[in-house]
Amino acid sequence: MSASRLNPSAIRMASTRMAPLAAALACAVGAMSAVSAQASELVVKIGHVAPMTGPQAHYGKDNENGARMAVEDLNKKGITIGGQKVRFELVPEDDAADPKQGAVVAQKLCDAKVAGVIGHLNSGTTIPASRIYNDCGIVQITPAATNPKITQQGYKGMFRVIAHDGMLGVALGDYAVKELKAKKVVVIDDRTGYGQPLADIFTETVKKAGGNVVDRQYTNDKATDFNAILTAVKGKNPDVVFYGGMDAQAGPMLRQMKQLGIKASFMGGDGICTAELVKLGGDNVGKNVICGEGGMDLNKMAGGAAFEKRYKETFKSDIQLYAPFVYDATMVLATAMQKSNSVDPAKYVAELQKMDYKGLVGAIRFDDKGDIKNGAITLRTYVDGKKSALAVIN
Ligand code: ALA
Repeated sequence: MSASRLNPSAIRMASTRMAPLAAALACAVGAMSAVSAQASELVVKIGHVAPMTGPQAHYGKDNENGARMAVEDLNKKGITIGGQKVRFELVPEDDAADPKQGAVVAQKLCDAKVAGVIGHLNSGTTIPASRIYNDCGIVQITPAATNPKITQQGYKGMFRVIAHDGMLGVALGDYAVKELKAKKVVVIDDRTGYGQPLADIFTETVKKAGGNVVDRQYTNDKATDFNAILTAVKGKNPDVVFYGGMDAQAGPMLRQMKQLGIKASFMGGDGICTAELVKLGGDNVGKNVICGEGGMDLNKMAGGAAFEKRYKETFKSDIQLYAPFVYDATMVLATAMQKSNSVDPAKYVAELQKMDYKGLVGAIRFDDKGDIKNGAITLRTYVDGKKSALAVIN
């Protein structure tokens, strides 16, 4: 995105809610005086996109919760931009994890002239959407989409606050061969813009490390019956089954592996590394499952424990996965606006490029492609129904 192609920001004037007395007065003396009694503010619209319906809705809800917490905190701060008091307003959209729907909502957010977008969650939706945001001059920060290619498209307004699969896939592949001493590995993926490239990176790494990928199978991100695939997998007698995809498939796959008597370790990227996997995979989710995700243990990060407590109290559920990344991404976007004293993406994008922000997930600084610098990775397993850290890779 060249700076000149960045559109002027999306802002509108609005009025603060009238105090009852002011409202009564307004009624008494007429509409004109009511307007003059109101204090003006600048409403800054921030788009948020994730799957809010379908089998991945639990991820989307988690992300949106993170964005809502950030917007609430920002509005409490009483931020002023360009001399005006700002009220941030979330514009939530649902892409249903579907690339076509992703493009549709991206266009919708362009038309709504939002000042920036946090999202999308899936690589498969982020890639088509990113071209649309670039064309209409909107800055986009993904908190979750990990396909390495997303930041290699040359879009100046594209940023990512989480370690990508070039790092996660390698860490997982090395772990399979060097730590688990896997000799025979089977790789399955969901053929999405996330699962397939992640599975490719994992496969290459295993081969380089001296492991043997004995079979490669495919499914899709709607499937729930994997018996045909798993029967073929069983015949290969693998030490490790790697799945490139999301928990909606990994869960039933784990149950069906148990039914078929497949005892291999089960590995995957951040897409399977959720709290929900425990419910979806039943009693086959334990130390046999190893997943890799961006970031470090939240409760070891400054403000992390307080964030987790507030999240649980507010939403009556555990953090699934990316909510802290979404929170930080929203804060980083607002910080760039504040520093540039502008909500115009063409102006505040320069502040993102030199951002140095202490977030919940660690230090957020971007490289020249818009990727987080030195994004940490944690490999996890499941102990007593909870995610538990195995190794932190910085
Ligand atoms: N990391 C997952 C993806 O890129 C959510 O699609």
